[in-house]
Amino acid sequence: MKQKIALITGASSGIGKEFALQLDQEGYRLILCSRRKELLEEVASKCHDAVIFPMDVTNKEDIDALLKEYPEVDLFINNAGFGVHGSFLDTSLEKETAMLETNIIAVHILMKEYLKIMVKRDQGTILNVSSIASFFPGPYMASYYASKAYVTRLTEAVREELKKRHSSVQISLLCPGPVNTNFSKEAGVSFALKGDSPQYVAKYALKMLKKGKFYIIPNAKIRLARIGAKLAPTRLVSKIAMQIQKKKFNSM
Ligand SMILES: NC(=O)c1ccc[n+]([C@@H]2O[C@H](COP(=O)([O-])OP(=O)(O)OC[C@H]3O[C@@H](n4cnc5c(N)ncnc54)[C@H](OP(=O)(O)O)[C@@H]3O)[C@@H](O)[C@H]2O)c1
Repeated sequence: MKQKIALITGASSGIGKEFALQLDQEGYRLILCSRRKELLEEVASKCHDAVIFPMDVTNKEDIDALLKEYPEVDLFINNAGFGVHGSFLDTSLEKETAMLETNIIAVHILMKEYLKIMVKRDQGTILNVSSIASFFPGPYMASYYASKAYVTRLTEAVREELKKRHSSVQISLLCPGPVNTNFSKEAGVSFALKGDSPQYVAKYALKMLKKGKFYIIPNAKIRLARIGAKLAPTRLVSKIAMQIQKKKFNSM
């Protein structure tokens, strides 16, 4: 049987790294992407069959080179991303626009390009890594929450388009709550809730992906929070999210 190929962005750390290690155990050939080459090499050295592709997902030339080198993959995990915290009036515009380029534009371009190829072959799976944050307004982390809302809405809409054309391509959405990775350090927050391990999140996501699930939310409390948010008025959800966010920040 032909060996399956998985391409993971943000594979140098956290959830992406765990996806790499677990897919390696499942016999996948891996293409590992992120900026930090040494960390990618470290992850690849723990795998049986992995190549590294150091790249910045916000660099269009890097994306073009990636697509040229690895146009056909069986599983694409669109995972690279980060958060920015603070009052909207105070956060660095430069940092925020870099985040929007990473969490929205790069996710959009990569999803579109790999989806076009997969649809032509009528085969393949895309997992977009969003967040539970995508379902709520998030005062004090406003642009991060909004960036993930884009990923969720885009994926939900494209899923319908794929269904309409009877495509065999699977698209799924991973929406974790807090996960103990480098994310919180990068965003300068400490979680108000106990975080899941990246090992658990990756394992759960791969299990649900195989079952063909669309929404993948790896924690019962977080699943409940989503249901609560659906039922409550947006203003109330926003106020509760603000209280949670306030507690999170080391600096507030
Ligand atoms: N941790 C959480 O609580 C949590 C919850 C919900 C959703 N998520 C989402 O999960 C995803 C993975 O985050 P994580 O928690 O695993 O955090 P992490 O440990 O900080 O990993 C983030 C990954 O993204 C890569 N990355 C960031 N900017 C990049 C760029 N411009 N080009 C290429 N790669 C880039 C980083 O690699 P380099 O620095 O080497 O480029 C790193 O491998 C993110 O999309 C995040 O929003 C996380």
